[in-house]
Amino acid sequence: MAAFTELVFSGVQPTGNLHLGNYLGAVKRFVEMQARDAQCLYCVVDLHAITVWQDPEALRGQIREVTAAFLAAGIDPAQSIVFNQSQVPQHAELAWVFNCVARLGWLNRMTQFKEKAGKDRENASIGLYDYPVLMAADILAYRATHVPVGEDQKQHLELTRDIAQKFNTDFGSSIAAHGHGETFFPVTEPLIGGPAARVMSLRDGSKKMSKSDPSDNSRINLTDDADTIAQKIRRAKTDPEPLPSEIAGLKDRPEADNLVGIYAALAGITREDVLRDFGGAQFSAFKPALADLAVTSLGPIAGEMRRLTADPGHIDAVLADGAGRAETIAAQTLDAVKDIVGFVRRGPSLQTVR
Ligand code: TRP
Repeated sequence: MAAFTELVFSGVQPTGNLHLGNYLGAVKRFVEMQARDAQCLYCVVDLHAITVWQDPEALRGQIREVTAAFLAAGIDPAQSIVFNQSQVPQHAELAWVFNCVARLGWLNRMTQFKEKAGKDRENASIGLYDYPVLMAADILAYRATHVPVGEDQKQHLELTRDIAQKFNTDFGSSIAAHGHGETFFPVTEPLIGGPAARVMSLRDGSKKMSKSDPSDNSRINLTDDADTIAQKIRRAKTDPEPLPSEIAGLKDRPEADNLVGIYAALAGITREDVLRDFGGAQFSAFKPALADLAVTSLGPIAGEMRRLTADPGHIDAVLADGAGRAETIAAQTLDAVKDIVGFVRRGPSLQTVR
């Protein structure tokens, strides 16, 4: 592997119905990261998906669909490493070691578990509870330095940093004895932000755009056709005021704020830029411009996704190639972790097995 100054890792769950929030908050940013001096790894996190029930045939299709979305959006599988998590056994292996580093008290504070488990906590899977530990393993199996994620993953990234730091201190002398210097795992930087770090529902500016919202009008799916996209934007909830010319004027106007953020993210400009062009305009003028922009940006992605998903063999080959390259990196980390923790092993794992 060429020497890069950064290692970028991120993951998307194959749980169906990719929408504009996934695109602007994750996939589009993954594409942009490829311009940095970084090795980028983009993972379809199927082990995370099964923390809640997934129909097996549907899951297989969804893994291929997220992969197709990555490729259609412009992730280059020759430059970046694109793979699905279950093909690289080191993720689950490192998660076990981290299960013994992370503390119950840390996991008990995770707000996403509380939200997802809901009232019937006793009936949630242990995997759902352990989800953030597996996520730390995803990131640290590659000793990733940067992780582009949405706002909602901030707490999980903090847990990842806590696990890295506790491992580094608990095993400090063993880390040094094995020639890894002071610290083995980096303290990963989350990359949260951009004009659309949080894309909200088109029907309610206080709720996140979500695949599970019962109203399909609340979201733009990556597979929606041009007419559907335009219609959903036309029907998007707004308020009666024209757009302000300053950012401060978006305060307490969540729906206006959301549409301006979506426009900025799609156009690759700032909210300020959008208001410079549209300040004073009515939604009757802004919405058609936004619809045109959305159709021209998303239409080609939807078309390319349809073309790619028609050839699952090609997608599976991309994933297999990516998994092989990912494993080359992750196996080195796991060999070192086993030495540091005090396990006995056969030798360099990739040369003895597989
Ligand atoms: N939890 C992330 C989400 O739901 C997905 C994910 C799993 C992830 N492992 C990751 C994101 C590692 C970044 C890095 O969006």
